This record gives sequence, structure tokens and C-alpha cells, in this order.
Amino acid sequence: MQPDTLHRWPLNAWYQAAWAHEIGDTPFARTLLGEPVVLFRDRNGHAHALEDRCCHRATPLSLGDVVEAGLQCGYHGLIFDGGGRCVEIPGQDTIPPQARVRSYPVVEQQEMIWIWPGDPDAADERLIIDYPYHDDHANWPHRHGRFHVQCSYLLMIDNLMDMTHVPYIHRNTIGAGVPEEQVRATMDVTRTEAGVHYIRWMTDTTPPPAYIQGAGWPADVKVDRWQEFEFIAPGTVTQWTGALETGCGALENRDQPGGISIRNWHGVTPESCSSCHYFWAPANGHRPDDAQATEALYTAIAATLREDIEFLERQQETWGRDPERPMVDIKHDAALKPARRAVERMIEAESGLATAAE
Ligand code: FES
Ligand SMILES: [Fe+2]
Repeated sequence: MQPDTLHRWPLNAWYQAAWAHEIGDTPFARTLLGEPVVLFRDRNGHAHALEDRCCHRATPLSLGDVVEAGLQCGYHGLIFDGGGRCVEIPGQDTIPPQARVRSYPVVEQQEMIWIWPGDPDAADERLIIDYPYHDDHANWPHRHGRFHVQCSYLLMIDNLMDMTHVPYIHRNTIGAGVPEEQVRATMDVTRTEAGVHYIRWMTDTTPPPAYIQGAGWPADVKVDRWQEFEFIAPGTVTQWTGALETGCGALENRDQPGGISIRNWHGVTPESCSSCHYFWAPANGHRPDDAQATEALYTAIAATLREDIEFLERQQETWGRDPERPMVDIKHDAALKPARRAVERMIEAESGLATAAE
């Protein structure tokens, strides 16, 4: 792996630009993939993304207004449609063809806004990850979170690919319990076409206090606990985590009532080489009728992720001082390495340097 992979990202890919609810009827500015972007909904409610720079005098279009015909620049009133074409110049009859701004393919699906920063002709909607849980509020109630994190998106993915950090970084939250049991967990890693999948099992183990409270278990309960993650390059991780009382046959069937069942969405989108947008949404599958439990889960996950972010931002600082210096791999990097490799393959393919798959 070339160290400068951390500085780059594939362009021909869908990335989460926002949660759907973030985009309303006023222009919304966000730097995505190193580029200033303005997102807005037209009067029909369709989401669009344009370069946040007017072609007239380079004013951010996010300072303007949504009008009937599109997005109107706040400076001299040029109006651009969702495709970036200038459709009106106040006081001027003709519109020169070069009066346009860059537009990005955008798709709204399952409560998310996706953006494609690469070749628009290659933007195939079928490549967008299907995540039906966001549309299933009855069985998987959830709230949407977002953190703006001062680290490379890849450091965030690394973090999600190695859960042996749990008893250390999260010793006060989800890592509470018996640390040795967590490090001894079995780890089953499978490479996939788009990334990597892994599942960790901790059987006959003591759950953290939040699990005991959430499931209503007695304090001395023993559980079979799993952490299942899938990385889909370049920036998505889906997670299913939970626990069932030991003896329930969790290894054969995790889809049982009782216990803990959490699905968590992680959408990681580069903002710059050293910062990212982190979208997350924990869904409460164990007490779906209990709104308080959904809220408590959100609050607990937010606290846990803040613990990760504190480390990742400091890691970015120290790594960034000497990015070329080699790092040492350990056994627990078994999922991290194929995840990095999947991103690298996408970047290589775009550069025309695709090598034979490993
Ligand atoms: S800068 Fe946008 S209309 Fe003049
Ligand atoms: Fe973590």
C-alpha cells in the first residue's frame, strides 16, 4: 500500500452527501471530496448538487435562494437549474452556453442523499447500497447522527474494521466488562467483491452494563455476543451487533426476540485529505416499541463514537507529521487490510493502473 492512499479517494463512486432531512428549501453548503458543493431541493422536492461557485463572479451559490426555476445566485441574480445550466440572467435576453456550473449526479434513497463526484456517465444508481432498515421505522426505529471529524476517512474505516480497540478506547462505555474476553473473541473475515465482511463472537461472556439494562437481564447473566460488520468501499460500513442469553442458540439463529439487536449505519465521506463527514444511525431492533430505548441507544452510541473520534483526531495529528513512516501490522488488522486494499483497487482502476485482483 502506498502511504499516499490516505490522501486520496475514488471519484467514480457514490458517497453519502447528507441525510435527506438536512436538505430543505434553502441552499445547503458542504465541502465534499475536497470540493465546495451546494445542495438544494427544487420546488418539486427533488434534491440537486451544484458546485458552490457562481460562474459569473465566483460567489458561493449557497448564499442565494431557491426559486421556481432553480437556485438563484445571491449576488446578481443568475438562476441555475438542477443540472447547473444558467436559465436566467436578469436584464439580459440571451444566455451564453458557457454560463453554467458543475452539477453532480444525486440520488435520494432510504433517507440519504448520495452524490457521485466522478464521471457523470458512469453514475449507475444500481450501485447504491440498499439499506432497507432506514425505511422500516416500525421494526428498526432510529435517529440520524453526524460528526465532522478531523481525520482521513480511511482512519475512520480502520477504526470500524478492528474491534479489539473496544476494551481500551471504550472502557467506560461498550467496552466495560471483562477485557480479555473481548480480545479473545473469534474473528471470521471474508473478502467480498466490494470490500470485506467480518463477524466476531464472544460466547458465554459478561455483557456491558448498557446491554444488561437494555435487555432487562439480571446482573450475573452470561450472553453470546456478536459484532458483524461489512465494509463496502469506499465509505460505507454496515453493522449488526447484539447479544442473546447463552443457551438460546445464538450462533445458529440471531433473529430471536429478547436480548439486544442493534443495526448501525456508518457513512464516511471525505471532506479533505485530513477530515471527513461521519454519518451514523443506530437502529433499535430489540425494543422497537420503546421510544425511550431508541433515544437511549442514540445517546449511548454518540458517547461511544466521541471516544473513537478523540483518538482518531489525535492519530491524524501524529500520523500527519510523518505520513511516509511505515507502520507495523498485527494479527487484528485482518479486516482492515483488505478494506484498504478495496479502496486502493478502485483508485488504481480509475488511474488505469488496475492490477490483477489479489
Ligand atoms: S456572482 Fe453570481 S450572479 Fe454575479
Ligand atoms: Fe469504537
